Amino acid sequence: MQTTQLGSSDLNVSRLCFGCWQLNPKFWGQVDIAGWEAAVRGALDAGINFIDTADAYGDGGAEEELGRFLAAAGLRDKFVIATKFFWNFTDGDARFADTTPDYIIRACESSLRRLRTDHIDLYQIHSWDALTRPDEVARAFATLKQAGKVRWFGVSNLNPEQMDLYRDHFEITTLQPGYSLLDRRIEQRELPYCLRHGIGVINYSPLYRGLLGGRYTADSRIPDGRAFGPFFHDEGLRIVAEALATAKTIAAEHDLTMAQLALRWTLTHPAISSAIVGVKKPDHILGAIKATEAPLSQEVWHRVGNLFSAAVAQVEALES
Ligand SMILES: NC(=O)c1ccc[n+]([C@@H]2O[C@H](COP(=O)([O-])OP(=O)(O)OC[C@H]3O[C@@H](n4cnc5c(N)ncnc54)[C@H](OP(=O)(O)O)[C@@H]3O)[C@@H](O)[C@H]2O)c1
Repeated sequence: MQTTQLGSSDLNVSRLCFGCWQLNPKFWGQVDIAGWEAAVRGALDAGINFIDTADAYGDGGAEEELGRFLAAAGLRDKFVIATKFFWNFTDGDARFADTTPDYIIRACESSLRRLRTDHIDLYQIHSWDALTRPDEVARAFATLKQAGKVRWFGVSNLNPEQMDLYRDHFEITTLQPGYSLLDRRIEQRELPYCLRHGIGVINYSPLYRGLLGGRYTADSRIPDGRAFGPFFHDEGLRIVAEALATAKTIAAEHDLTMAQLALRWTLTHPAISSAIVGVKKPDHILGAIKATEAPLSQEVWHRVGNLFSAAVAQVEALES
């Protein structure tokens, strides 16, 4: 398994990251925990040493499950653990954005407890909070770093202007954006910005929540929890399914599955450090490994990219 350094940190991680959002039943249904544990072990055996989660996944449930398993199996030190904070789900019924210093410290303590660890390797702000000044965020981060509770800090879902504001006050090791064949919005600004400033990029939803996994056709009924947005239903799904049928033949020409082609496509971009794959069972992560073996040629990267960009444009035209 290829590894890479995240930004200017000392975190050396695999180019596939094990995503834990799937432990949130609201979006992904019930997970067979024995199968999920086997997936974590299989990932480790295959050289994957990077796990992404968040306190918000299942309101702490995903961190609990991960912490319980890693502690019982004695595997905590084998993984670089990235988690996130932002959604305050503890102070009332409705969750709200919260990056105030007191909340950051509290959220971190709670994540450490659930993860059964004394430190978080990469602590990420899940999204942009306009209400808290960046120097206030930096104050909490300095406290956590000094106490050895967090090693490095990252951000998610931010644009370059927002990263600039934070970078005046603390070092950003990684950006976690959505990036896939069906969502290329960050190519224009965020990816060049990260390359320029030496910020690692760990992209989420590289399979567009499973749609690029190769299992679905125009007639599929995709489970509701993750099927939000125009590509998952009706005419949008028909258009994407047509692109998928062509892409599958290109994948086969290169001895790849559709999922491997889609993952390899994101990993070929020079700004991408590691692709986060959402995992419920061993096949998901083990079936992804081949994606890391080599980049796509420029010709194939553009051919596949253009195919899905044309599909996206068609779906967007339906919407307007
Ligand atoms: N920062 C953020 O705001 C944010 C947002 C979303 C996600 N994330 C992170 O990124 C991770 C990944 O993103 P994601 O969960 O949206 O989705 P994803 O990786 O694009 O899709 C995951 C789904 O794809 C299918 N799949 C996985 N591996 C496969 C393989 N090898 N072959 C075929 N199909 C495969 C599975 O669905 P089926 O088999 O059921 O079809 C799986 O549940 C999350 O777990 C989370 O850690 C972060």
